Amino acid sequence: MTNLLQMQNIQRHYETPAGVVKALDGVSFEITQGERVILLGPSGSGKTTLLNCLSSLDSPTGGSYTFNGSDVPRNHSEQMTSFRRENIGYVFQFFNLLQDLTVLENILLIQELSGNKDPKRAIELLKLVGLEDEINRFPGEISGGQQQRVAIARSIAKRPNLLLGDELTGNLDTETSQKVMTALVNACKEENITAVFVTHDEGLVRYATRVIRIDSGKIVSDKLVNTEDE
Ligand SMILES: Nc1ncnc2c1ncn2[C@@H]1O[C@H](COP(=O)(O)OP(=O)(O)OP(=O)(O)O)[C@@H](O)[C@H]1O
Ligand SMILES: [Mg+2]
Repeated sequence: MTNLLQMQNIQRHYETPAGVVKALDGVSFEITQGERVILLGPSGSGKTTLLNCLSSLDSPTGGSYTFNGSDVPRNHSEQMTSFRRENIGYVFQFFNLLQDLTVLENILLIQELSGNKDPKRAIELLKLVGLEDEINRFPGEISGGQQQRVAIARSIAKRPNLLLGDELTGNLDTETSQKVMTALVNACKEENITAVFVTHDEGLVRYATRVIRIDSGKIVSDKLVNTEDE
């Protein structure tokens, strides 16, 4: 098993007028290729901050982060953008689709940015999340749950090395959420995509190979799960 990434004593402190907020306060772990990690924790515990550091959207204020053996670029450098483009698929907590592009065009754009436009795969992915009838509509013409599913299809469209999801199924009903998670897990297995999903929903644990719990910016538990299924 190859080690994909390693965080060591990661800190993300914010200076605020009221004092220092330690959003991440000494987080350390390694993630092996192919793992699917569920990140659980109360509101304000640091989950989104951790995903933003993992994706290099944000930089830690301390500690070390290596990806495929190299230091991850920091501090709003252009290299952060190329790192993300090359490695990361991200479904945001407040998904952001481009409103002037259709559902299909939103997917094609991401493929184009990462240098592999593949309309056939884009349509397959939209089928996978149950949106084959909506491909030519604009985000403003579909429901919140459907927009979320477009964001999910988009996140795997470029075959990222690391897929990150923040409350991925938060806007979906139970049945759709199960369908989408099953499709996602299958895509991850087929393409050996490593994933970290933030959620409040303990029900998603069954889709994971590992569960990390975080509280007040610290890891409070880290366990392998469902090991017999793999
Ligand atoms: N820009 C900022 N400035 C100051 N503090 C911040 C900033 N962004 C986040 N924080 C603080 O950092 C902590 C972690 O926030 P984070 O968004 O990572 O929480 P979360 O676990 O994702 O919560 P939720 O489940 O509500 O989305 C919180 O205490 C939050 O108030
Ligand atoms: Mg959050």
